[in-house]
Amino acid sequence: MTTHKIAVIEGDGIGPEIIREGIKVIDKVSELHNFEIKWTKYPHGADHYLKTKELISEDTLNNIKSTADTIYLGALGDPRIQPGILEKGILLKTRFFFDQYINLRPIKLLEGADCPLKNKTPKDIDFTVIRENTEDFYIGIGNRAKAGTTKQELEVIRSLYSVKFSLDIETEGSEIAYQIGVLSQKGSERVIRYAFEHAKKHNHTRLTAVDKANVLSHVYNFWREIVEKTSQDYPNIEHEFNYVDAITMWFIKTPEHYQTVVTPNMFGDIITDLGAMLQGGLGLAPGGNINPNGISMFEPIHGSAPKYKGLNIANPLATIWAGAMMLNELGEQKSSNLIVNSIEQLVKQKKILTKDMGGSAKTSDIGDELVKIVDKINNK
Ligand code: IPM
Ligand code: MN
Repeated sequence: MTTHKIAVIEGDGIGPEIIREGIKVIDKVSELHNFEIKWTKYPHGADHYLKTKELISEDTLNNIKSTADTIYLGALGDPRIQPGILEKGILLKTRFFFDQYINLRPIKLLEGADCPLKNKTPKDIDFTVIRENTEDFYIGIGNRAKAGTTKQELEVIRSLYSVKFSLDIETEGSEIAYQIGVLSQKGSERVIRYAFEHAKKHNHTRLTAVDKANVLSHVYNFWREIVEKTSQDYPNIEHEFNYVDAITMWFIKTPEHYQTVVTPNMFGDIITDLGAMLQGGLGLAPGGNINPNGISMFEPIHGSAPKYKGLNIANPLATIWAGAMMLNELGEQKSSNLIVNSIEQLVKQKKILTKDMGGSAKTSDIGDELVKIVDKINNK
């Protein structure tokens, strides 16, 4: 029997409650499809940080690396801690450490889910955003400089490359702040190639690449050139470029146009929150941080919703769906599809839903009901 070893970081706020439901459903399908999951919980998040001052150390990450196949993450963020500390110190740290260069975000309107767009149906909203997940304005370098002359050294060290900026800054009149965004040839090519492969695998005929090359021309003309070059290996897939501002409009007007969308990191962050609304809200939007040859991490794209912590009312569907994506990456396609089909069934029957979806069910009712649906569909 195959055993998959999964590291679990429940995290903050509603994290533990929604992860519990994901584990419940995954344990059920593993039983039905004869594989085993070994779950190992890690305490990282706000409480652990307040107690120990550890965000997530290289030791912990190396421990995960040597003992786990993948990571299942709830949510991070806590009002007791300044915004950004946990997000950068745990979430981004882990994405970068494992070089999870793909952020895979399916935008799929399930049958029965409420779409805010008039006259759009599940067949109109079914595309995938593939967001670059390690570079761009997310590399975290920048600083402030007071009026006068300062010297600053900035460095980014990655497995693909390293880069150092030595800056002599002279400012007159005012203090300034700056942030440097970097795209690398290798870092861009690998995500663009992954996107073309994704399109090919899913019989997509079109790939849309997002940028803002009309203004941020250094980085995004570079991006465009790499898209052009890579596209030559995929003569059967048409490609096009959309500016990020325009794509937010087109997502609303003609979502049916989109099949595979590939985007630099920051724009991908923004347009996938919009995408989540198209598919019925943040409660239904899963994501995977993927290193195709390494350790990936799956999470809902929403945050930790501290207001709802411990109330057993949060919607666990995005987390359960992220769990299905995790199983897919682990090679358990049949189980993955079974979970997504069961979620769709649950949404369609409209009986047991959490408050955000117009129901009155508890977080734990959703997992319980899904376990029943999984059983039913599997026996058919
Ligand atoms: C996301 C989140 C993160 C991001 C934050 C929490 C660092 O918004 O996964 O979309 O910006 O990538
Ligand atoms: Mn985001």
